[in-house]
Amino acid sequence: MNLVFLGPPGAGKGTQAARISQTYDIPHISTGAMLREAIANQTPLGIQAKATIERGELVSDEIVIGIVKERLAQADCAKGYLLDGFPRTVPQAEALDQFSHVEAAVNVDVPAQVIIDRIAGRRMCQVCGEALHVDLLKGSDTCPKCGGKMVQRDDDKPETVRNRLDVYEKQTKPLIDYYRRQNALLDVNGNQPIDEVQADIRRALEEAMK
Ligand code: AP5
Repeated sequence: MNLVFLGPPGAGKGTQAARISQTYDIPHISTGAMLREAIANQTPLGIQAKATIERGELVSDEIVIGIVKERLAQADCAKGYLLDGFPRTVPQAEALDQFSHVEAAVNVDVPAQVIIDRIAGRRMCQVCGEALHVDLLKGSDTCPKCGGKMVQRDDDKPETVRNRLDVYEKQTKPLIDYYRRQNALLDVNGNQPIDEVQADIRRALEEAMK
């Protein structure tokens, strides 16, 4: 199953992608996570991408297309994949169509004010990348999954979040129509509890794959 997950920053793409990729036993490929890992390891890519990400802007199409093309060529993607955060522009989607066939694009839809609250409260594990809201951490800064330290992402500061939402509206939202035209779009209400969003995504995928 070849899937892409669309949706604004903080919509819950990563949360759902982690679960759905397990359900269908396909690799969860997050370009944001790959870029954050490159930044943490201070690779040439990370050094180049750091300032762009911290401004809330997009890394160049050329770079992310290259990363994804290389990743999808790996053996574990032969049975399918779940792309989280890619494509993010029409040129990225067009490039993806050149080297793979997307079977479904899941659009996780959440109103802007809910997103702002979610992102303001998000903490992410420095070790395993688990994302949790401060309310669930109940004052702790320790990851319940691996014991790593939970911190705020550099691009989750309010001024950067505003820019990320603008960038989403201008550059990523057009992908909703792009995949609707391909008959591949599955709209899901992301403004409900995590388990219910997951159940809706599974239902939509099962219906689409019949
Ligand atoms: P990326 O990491 O992809 O960030 P994003 O798309 O902005 O998405 P987020 O990770 O912020 O949110 P999410 O939708 O995954 O939500 P989450 O599950 O964490 O990209 C970061 C940056 O990298 C970009 O800005 C760009 O610079 C660069 N980049 C990446 N890909 C690129 C590309 N293709 N091209 C160019 N540049 C690229 O959930 C958010 C919070 O809400 C969490 O705390 C979670 O616990 C909570 N939550 C989730 N679901 C629910 C729910 N149903 N109810 C209540 N709380 C919930």
